[in-house]
Amino acid sequence: MSKFVIKGGKPLKGCVSISGAKNSVLALLPATLLTDKLCEIDKVPNLKDVNVMLELLKRLGTKVEGIESEKVRIISSELTSHEAPYELVRQMRASFYVMGPLLAREGVARVAQPGGCAIGARPIDLHLKGFEALGAKIEQGHGYIEARCEGRLKGAKVYLDYPSVGATVNIMMAACLAEGTTDIENAAKEPEIVNLANFLNSMGASVSGAGQNTIRIKGVKQLHGTQYEVIPDRIEMGTYMVAAAITGGDITIENVIFDHIKPIIAKLRECGTQVIEGADYSLRIIGSGRPKAVDVTTLPYPGFPTDMQAQFMALMTCADGASMINETVFENRFMHTAELRRMGANIKIEGHSAVVRGVDTIQGARVNATDLRAGAALVLAALMASGTTEVDNIEHIDRGYVRLEEKLRALGADIERVCD
Ligand code: UD1
Repeated sequence: MSKFVIKGGKPLKGCVSISGAKNSVLALLPATLLTDKLCEIDKVPNLKDVNVMLELLKRLGTKVEGIESEKVRIISSELTSHEAPYELVRQMRASFYVMGPLLAREGVARVAQPGGCAIGARPIDLHLKGFEALGAKIEQGHGYIEARCEGRLKGAKVYLDYPSVGATVNIMMAACLAEGTTDIENAAKEPEIVNLANFLNSMGASVSGAGQNTIRIKGVKQLHGTQYEVIPDRIEMGTYMVAAAITGGDITIENVIFDHIKPIIAKLRECGTQVIEGADYSLRIIGSGRPKAVDVTTLPYPGFPTDMQAQFMALMTCADGASMINETVFENRFMHTAELRRMGANIKIEGHSAVVRGVDTIQGARVNATDLRAGAALVLAALMASGTTEVDNIEHIDRGYVRLEEKLRALGADIERVCD
């Protein structure tokens, strides 16, 4: 078990570069199962979740090279298993993404049923509804879900009751090798969806409309290999933007796609933070004194991302006034509030909303990272708090941030990783 020990109160200054997007690469890696040819993916972030996905691919028979570098070479010439075991699925829910490609290529997939997690029940009914619409037979038992199809999947219209990112990814991948055309209606529009569509097209798929309400996939018989680069991580960008704002710092963030972070830029500007869009994909963030309290509602893209809610709440703990934070995407995503309260924050939860009344200062304390973004929020709060904060359970944070403490130290933060 490791922890971060952070001495707060230092305004961050300098330059930080953003790594490849975790949530994007977690979709690209299983998509390589759709071909028996070589796929080379560049800017792969070396993160725990990415390593779990690579381990899963290897269990299925995939050959993987370059895991420690940013450029990963993957070839699934022959698959030797169709099963994603519970020991890997329980570590990372996105393991479920292998179901679509396996079903499409092999006609069978057996994947452990993901359980709930710290932020909500997170069912997978929409993924399964999509596979069934494409002609798969689904059986569930003993904690596993098995999907089978006779011959190729058949293109169909799939309406998603909610624009689920995961369901859109899984159904889009499966539909690429189906016979005929699939329309995913009310599809997720996240940048990671568009990036996956571009990746699939670079493999010879025919996917159009990604980023809009309806994604159309014309099935093809086979896909070929590709070379591709992962987009930068918009949640890592947002986290460093808040780090600058919360410490009253002045930092430049490199490798930024402005379009992907519009709601975060808008909310920070509303708070009084200066956000300057520079040339060459860079963004300068200048925190200016106490932020104004502003309200935030999380929504599917292009709304404010739920993956930035906890970090934004950390910023609001010392804002001038009261802020209402509505979480509409996940039902239980306020685990960080209890820990922020231990640091002196004034936060009241009412159902899906949190009211954060800004206090003058928060203090360092020993706190617990309950999940990835909750952990990031505690690190941000610690950067502004008086005294020393110890953040326990930082394995959660390691799932999604590349060398977080190194990048923060280079910006002047006083942060150490201590291994017990
Ligand atoms: C992805 C992201 C996660 C982000 C989330 C929302 C990855 C690996 N993870 O998660 O970081 O927080 O999008 O932006 O990309 N739902 C159902 N049935 C389903 C699927 C989802 O009811 O079959 C519900 C979920 O319980 C949740 C909502 O839909 O309340 C959104 O979930 P979804 O968009 O699927 O998120 P994930 O793909 O799990």
